[in-house]
Amino acid sequence: MLENPVLDPKRIPRHVAIIMDGNGRWAKQRNLPRIMGHKAGTESVKDIVRTARELNLEVLTLYAFSTENWKRPSMEVQGIMALLKTYLKSELQSMLQNDISLRCIGETDKLPADIQKILNEVIQKTALKTGDKPSLVLNLALSYGSRAEIVRAASIMAEKCVSGQFDPEDFSEQLFASHLYTVGLPDPDLLIRSGGEARLSNFLLWQLSYAELYITETMWPDFKGDNLIEAIRNYQDRERRFGQTSEQLQAE
Ligand code: FPP
Repeated sequence: MLENPVLDPKRIPRHVAIIMDGNGRWAKQRNLPRIMGHKAGTESVKDIVRTARELNLEVLTLYAFSTENWKRPSMEVQGIMALLKTYLKSELQSMLQNDISLRCIGETDKLPADIQKILNEVIQKTALKTGDKPSLVLNLALSYGSRAEIVRAASIMAEKCVSGQFDPEDFSEQLFASHLYTVGLPDPDLLIRSGGEARLSNFLLWQLSYAELYITETMWPDFKGDNLIEAIRNYQDRERRFGQTSEQLQAE
């Protein structure tokens, strides 16, 4: 247990994104098959969603499966898909009870048909009614790669230029962002990576431009609510300058 960390409720990050790394190593350290690491990692997902909700985060984005992860042994891919399916089925009620709205980013059409079906069902059932604000948006990155997302946005915008919906002169950062999967979500304020590696791994390259980075040696299956609180406490010690000087920020 971490020692009684105190968070400033006025400076809770709106959006936390997490690269959930270290499941395989966690399993290896225990002489278990890799899939047991992913299974234990699913329990961490539940704990982190619960804590994110309690802390009043607006958005929690979890990197659950990358475009590159398709290259893993098919047994492991199938195992992760099975865990995902069980998770979505078992957590639907809890999401409804806790005003958690599920979203998904990535090439979801590449997922197995049964996963697409349950995913769409949970997304529809937890979708907001017009005007409602959810307590938490749980945003799962599935078959997600940031470069592919950026190329997709550029391609949609090019098509819109060809069909006359807008001109290249209309391009802006805002217009571009509105063609990414994350349209409507605030950019992440904090990126957490478990498992100790200092890489972005093709995750939210556009959206993380001004995020604070927090890397912990803790493997994902050991990363629980207290670790999230510690990451946010660390974030609250930082000064986010967005390119300005400290003096300018203080004057504001
Ligand atoms: C990275 O660890 C983790 C993954 C590729 C899969 C993450 C999946 C889950 C936590 C379970 C299913 C997801 C949800 C949302 C219920 P790694 O295997 O690369 O670990 P390593 O670097 O130690 O090998």
